[in-house]
Amino acid sequence: MQDFIYCAPTRVIFGKDTELQVGKILKEAGATRVLLQYGGGSIKKSGLYDRVVQAVREAGIELYEIGGVQPNPHLSLVREAIALAREKKVDYLLAVGGGSAIDSTKATAVGVPYEGDVWDFYCGKATPKTALPLGVILTIPAAGSEGSNSSVITNEDGWIKRGLGCDLTRAAFAIYNPELTYTLPAYQTAAGASDIMAHIMERYFTNEPDVDMTDRLCESVLKTILKQAPVCVQDPTNYAARAEMMWASTVAHNDFLTCFRVGDWASHQLAHELSGLYDSTHGAALAVVFPAWMTYVYKHDVQRFCRFAVEVMGVEMDFFHPEETALKGIAALRSFFRSIGMPTTLKELGVPENELDLLASKVKRGPDGTTGKFVPLTEADCRAIYELMK
Ligand code: NZQ
Ligand code: ZN
Repeated sequence: MQDFIYCAPTRVIFGKDTELQVGKILKEAGATRVLLQYGGGSIKKSGLYDRVVQAVREAGIELYEIGGVQPNPHLSLVREAIALAREKKVDYLLAVGGGSAIDSTKATAVGVPYEGDVWDFYCGKATPKTALPLGVILTIPAAGSEGSNSSVITNEDGWIKRGLGCDLTRAAFAIYNPELTYTLPAYQTAAGASDIMAHIMERYFTNEPDVDMTDRLCESVLKTILKQAPVCVQDPTNYAARAEMMWASTVAHNDFLTCFRVGDWASHQLAHELSGLYDSTHGAALAVVFPAWMTYVYKHDVQRFCRFAVEVMGVEMDFFHPEETALKGIAALRSFFRSIGMPTTLKELGVPENELDLLASKVKRGPDGTTGKFVPLTEADCRAIYELMK
């Protein structure tokens, strides 16, 4: 059981029409000049953009904007946003969208007051000392960026995708209206579910003893996704299911479930290379990576994988053959991903199968040459896990 500091200061405003409060909330926070960042246009199609712009302007706040943030957000757009924010002297940032718009905004937040290049923070050359405040209107439950301290940016120079963990980038407020997620394509809904599950599983597979409470919390949120994700895919306007998915997105990744534990995170590193090089949707990449990673490492702690199989995936425990129980749990997870329309092989993900050496060589590893805490993986291990995704 680890000591911990838990810092999740984001003010949550949850419910129907809550986006209409954004002007008031920004004003109360002291914002006078706001830079809005959003993605490729879904918020314009849905009418959300117009409502947000009106609410902010009615509050007497100057509003500037930069759209076109791509999934797996690019460093070049972050640099543009930083330049614009400096030129217009903005004092508050607003992200409307999902992990990509939010992460681009977080990078802007630390980049504006920094004299060097913002990539310094992502390649580990510098640590942010200060940041602009930011708020979020969430449109997709997935990355959990609305509540997390992290952001992930892709540098087009080398197509390197790297993350920054920094409490200064936690959103001051996050607005959730489940109805905003009704327009999500089924694939994005499912990819979001896969990412939320991955965030919990990265924490669940730990070597830390005596973490029963957070084990049970993890299992409970995972079971909620197993129940509600298929409902959202089949019935996109089911308010209750959408609402539970939205809150699960945050709970999975705002570190509430990290307390007492040490997470693994190798699967995320393996997935980042798929997104960095081939622009794979983050959650879809994780649906391919996670069962392969599990298959590679389950012997490290068969009991924990049995617990996952039984408590989460509903597999019956076979006390005479625990390994079989563990493997059935992994198979059940893979079937679940398939059932909601996620890929489970590199081929389905559209990733060439002849570049596994390159992929394995790019995976971010620590000074000891490994990635992952549950089972530290070498480059050769990473290569073997990619092989299992074929
Ligand atoms: O760009 P627009 O037009 O808005 O369309 C988006 C995008 O195509 C669409 N979308 C979002 N809300 C919608 C909608 N379409 C219709 N109706 C809506 N309500 O969905 C697509 C995906 O959006 P994106 O923001 O990329 O999704 P997500 O939230 O999955 O974010 C993925 C990014 O977050 C990073 C990932 O690596 C990836 O770059 N992550 C961030 C984390 C963090 N900051 O804590 C942790 C995660 O592990 C993850 O790495
Ligand atoms: Zn993720």
